[in-house]
Amino acid sequence: MTHNPNIIWHPTAITKSDRQSLNGHKSCALWFTGLSGSGKSVLANAVDEKLYRMGIQSYVLDGDNIRHGLNKDLGFQTEDRIENIRRIGEVAKLFVDSGQMILTAFISPFREDRDMVRALFPEEEFFEIYVKCPLHVCEQRDPKGLYKKARNGEIKHFTGIDSPYEAPRSPDFIIESDQISISAGADLIITELQSKGII
Ligand SMILES: Nc1ncnc2c1ncn2[C@@H]1O[C@H](COP(=O)(O)OP(=O)(O)O)[C@@H](O)[C@H]1O
Ligand SMILES: [Mg+2]
Repeated sequence: MTHNPNIIWHPTAITKSDRQSLNGHKSCALWFTGLSGSGKSVLANAVDEKLYRMGIQSYVLDGDNIRHGLNKDLGFQTEDRIENIRRIGEVAKLFVDSGQMILTAFISPFREDRDMVRALFPEEEFFEIYVKCPLHVCEQRDPKGLYKKARNGEIKHFTGIDSPYEAPRSPDFIIESDQISISAGADLIITELQSKGII
């Protein structure tokens, strides 16, 4: 879409840095990516809960929930998939601008889509967290019964079954969710945020 010259950015009186100062911590996006059932939602919520208890402003955007509302007009074909991720990226950016930590839990299987989101942020405000877990473990967990449906042919283009998952080449963190507990995984992320001086 071409840029409309009549739409002019209005500078805000209160800046992102003002809001971060008020909150007493910086803000960034934690982008969880991984197979269905790898543990993105559970981990993002565990980190969110720990941040909440530490008095840190945070929020989780979760795939299915967003498709109930903001993105309910979108399907799963290529164009809509890209638009889905683009909108989440823009919403995440608004949260960071508002001085909050934003955690997103979307399979986001394609590298190109994730890189498009990364490009919206300065380097220190976007962290890709690869929730790594072998397909057979995710399939055993099958928390929503979706793998079973995909194997039966009831769901088409299911990531890991008949649609690819492109693992991140250089994620900022890797959580191997078949190796460590949910709480230990969340603690690793909190420790990283502390060592980077974000919280
Ligand atoms: N170490 C772990 N980290 C994350 N999830 C785990 C772990 N061990 C077992 N699980 C289970 O795996 C499932 C992950 O589901 P969910 O978070 O909904 O996956 P996703 O959001 O990636 O599709 C949950 O049922 C969770 O209890
Ligand atoms: Mg989920």
